[in-house]
Amino acid sequence: MLCLIVGRDVGDTNMKPSRNVYLASALLLTSVGSVSAIDATPQVQTEMIALGRDLFFDPILSGNKNISCATCHHPEFGTSDGLSLGIGEGGTGLGPDRTELAASAPKERVPRNAPALFNLGLAEFTTLLHDGRVAADPNAPFGFAMPKGQELERPVSGALAAQAHLPVTSATEMAGQPGENDVADAVAEGRILGPGGARD
Ligand code: HEC
Repeated sequence: MLCLIVGRDVGDTNMKPSRNVYLASALLLTSVGSVSAIDATPQVQTEMIALGRDLFFDPILSGNKNISCATCHHPEFGTSDGLSLGIGEGGTGLGPDRTELAASAPKERVPRNAPALFNLGLAEFTTLLHDGRVAADPNAPFGFAMPKGQELERPVSGALAAQAHLPVTSATEMAGQPGENDVADAVAEGRILGPGGARD
């Protein structure tokens, strides 16, 4: 390893270590000193993976049953949607070809870009969303700060699971507009939590 780093210095005939050798040794020792074992891989339950995948691609999670998580986070588009601002509930098509339907035109474009989701289930991701409004916080209910009125009501496995509560109660993303379905009505009335709430 050291030979690889210092390259031709170790091959010098006079064998006097150059400044580079000292520098490389110092760098190597520093990096070896900071090496630590990686965390054990999480316990994987195959059934849960299959359930998560099926729900992620299933419009059944949306108020009007017309959009799934994958519509905006599709593997074909790097787990995003190929749009600068997404077209949520009420649109039609996938990726850059997604357009608004005249009959059910969304009230607004999704106001932010849909980020890719690779690796976000790893424990090191404790803050999510562009503005960090889902974040690990020991003082918040069940350990995660959430947007006001959308606090967690039960334990979750991590930030990713906490975040997944939000798209389904967003009128623009998945819930739909008031008058269209029960979830959209509850969202419009600010009834997210508790019995009869949008998450009930
Ligand atoms: C209509 C498009 C749309 C749908 C549908 C949608 N998302 Fe998103 N997603 C977004 C946008 C836009 C953001 C960024 C929002 C923000 O930061 O305010 C986002 C952010 C996220 C993030 C955070 C990524 C990060 O790096 O911080 C996760 C995780 C996520 N979505 C998962 C889901 C899941 C799970 C579903 C289904 C329950 C879903 N999304 C449905 C558009 C969508």
